[in-house]
Amino acid sequence: MTHPFQSFLEELYLKYRDLKDGTVASYIPELAKADSNWFSISVVTVDGKVFEVGDLSQLFTIQSISKVFAYGMALEDRGRDTLLQKVGVEPTGDPFNSIIRLDENSKRPDNPMVNAGAIATTSLIKGQNATERINRLLEMFRNYTGRDVFVDVPVFMSERTTGHRNRAMAHLMYHFGMIDEKIDEALDLYFQQCSILVNCHDLAVMAATLANKGINPITGDRAVSVEYIRDILSVMYTCGMYNYAGRWSYDVGIPAKSGVSGGLLAVVPNQVGIAIFSPLLDTHGNSVRGIRVCEELSRHFQLHIFDLPMGCTQFLQKLSSKDSSTSV
Ligand code: DON
Repeated sequence: MTHPFQSFLEELYLKYRDLKDGTVASYIPELAKADSNWFSISVVTVDGKVFEVGDLSQLFTIQSISKVFAYGMALEDRGRDTLLQKVGVEPTGDPFNSIIRLDENSKRPDNPMVNAGAIATTSLIKGQNATERINRLLEMFRNYTGRDVFVDVPVFMSERTTGHRNRAMAHLMYHFGMIDEKIDEALDLYFQQCSILVNCHDLAVMAATLANKGINPITGDRAVSVEYIRDILSVMYTCGMYNYAGRWSYDVGIPAKSGVSGGLLAVVPNQVGIAIFSPLLDTHGNSVRGIRVCEELSRHFQLHIFDLPMGCTQFLQKLSSKDSSTSV
């Protein structure tokens, strides 16, 4: 018999499959090739149960979602104090690619989820040279996904040749002493990290790994030190959805991160990882269907972290007791 939660996801999928609001990102020319119909939902629990529906094997580039994991790695490489000195943790209320806050008075980019902060964060990843640094990043992503992952070279080249705004930000940050002189190396690493190919299932496993205190619930391998989970989830909660982060926290109430190729990942601590893939984006750069699915999941299962007294703590229990009523 189909598990009631699986039926719930299938109903959600059918409900939003025909929602055509939003547009596919095109400012990175390769991304414009995405099919606007692609849609998948995946939920992985901290005890390794998997519920999913849709185009699950469709690969796409991780884009900004990579910022979460690079931040975790930079924290491990440099420690919390250095990171806080180099990259802030303040939400901006500005678009993800905003350049306006970088000036003489700002000692550091605002947070690791906007592009400037992400480039500065990635510049802190350790390695003797560019190859060692990307290999370390890829290895870290493999621990999160539990399978081999690679860079999509056409997307990387597409962003590398057109990413003038990110290039300008990096040079400005160098001018203000926020990053070191290896500007092109940091940019290439950032463009490569954004171009790593994943599918919706991978994203849910990655989210579940964060929900499970850094241990991949499928492989049992540790991907990040438990020491930094709170830091990572905090910046996801306050900054992960860009200038929609406030409304997201209010309505959905789960740490999350989106990317311009249409991925959205959300973490219910100690319970589950949720991922949605649908390339139709709203004006903030967040997946339209992704937001709607998360709103419904949060409302129906009381996943909002301030949804007291139930809160999100009972979701796993509900799943095991099969008490997840099915009407959307
Ligand atoms: O730097 C960029 O513009 C892209 N590589 C990533 C942007 C992104 O995914 C923003 N997310 N909504």
